[in-house]
Amino acid sequence: MDQLVKQIEQHKKEILALTLNNKEDLEAFRIKYLGTKGLLKLIMGEMKNVPADQKKEAGQLLNEFKIFTESFYEESLQGIGFTNKKLSALIDVTLPGESLPLGSRHPISIVHNKIVSIFQRLGFSIAEGPEIEDDWHNFTALNLPENHPARDMQDTFYISQNPDWLLRTHTSSVQIREMEKGNLPLRIICPGRVYRNETISARAHCFFNQVEGLYIAENVSFADLKQTLYFFVQEMFGNDVKVRFRPSYFPFTEPSAEMDISCLICNGEGCNVCKKTGWVEILGCGMVHPQVLDNCGIDSKKYTGFAFGMGVERITMLTYQVKDLRLFSENDVRFLKQFTNAV
Ligand code: DAH
Repeated sequence: MDQLVKQIEQHKKEILALTLNNKEDLEAFRIKYLGTKGLLKLIMGEMKNVPADQKKEAGQLLNEFKIFTESFYEESLQGIGFTNKKLSALIDVTLPGESLPLGSRHPISIVHNKIVSIFQRLGFSIAEGPEIEDDWHNFTALNLPENHPARDMQDTFYISQNPDWLLRTHTSSVQIREMEKGNLPLRIICPGRVYRNETISARAHCFFNQVEGLYIAENVSFADLKQTLYFFVQEMFGNDVKVRFRPSYFPFTEPSAEMDISCLICNGEGCNVCKKTGWVEILGCGMVHPQVLDNCGIDSKKYTGFAFGMGVERITMLTYQVKDLRLFSENDVRFLKQFTNAV
């Protein structure tokens, strides 16, 4: 074995001292070292004399020498030559490193993170709840008793084992869970996935993401709601965006409103995205209905609060001008990788 090591060292030295400048040199080298009766074959043949317990080590050594000799030949052939003959010729340190493919964040995650961070700066903390909900938290406590017509607004997936269970249709259910804990004042956002039995199309899906907001304290007013959402919109979309509130109806808020922003695509001029109105709706909101507070054991004479709920997909579509909601759940890398550096 020692013999073999010495032999190889010696050959390496010899090779490193060579410069193969022309075809003849190259061919001579090939025949001498790499040919069928060449040195490499010869040394390989000596493997059989190596004791069994050293075979593995010797094999590695020989293999390295083989790569060394072959690459010396290859590089000489290409007229490159070895740049630093003192370094192990096995490693060409001048080669560029291998770059690893970098993944990218999902656009929904990017927008979700941005929404969450804006509200965290305002002192909201994150609350989460189960995606499989019971009727009380998803509907009844939110002032949608059985047979309430507004239940039809949200086509529900029920769970067959138990008629009381369903896939939550909105993150408003988390409001209830948090209010029931009774720790006031309460200032939370509830991000999460929700489910509705809708036909899948470019504008609707059977699952999507919402961020719910809730603030309960003494003397909370509609002005607080407006200011909070106004701050949010400016942080999210920039200072130039305009906001308007329209009266609306939700069973769990009174008064209720929907908030529009000036269309980011056409700047309010009117385009297909805003259906020529110059405005796009981004969320629902209102003052928490006193009945909802009472349902959760909160004294509605003492406390007031506001709530809002927005769809993350919708905001993502507006931010990146994505026209088809289905792209978000198809996992097509060609789509997803476009958001690598997006904020
Ligand atoms: N839960 C409503 C929905 O899914 C959104 C919403 C509207 C949430 C008004 C609220 C709110 O908290 O006050 O469409």
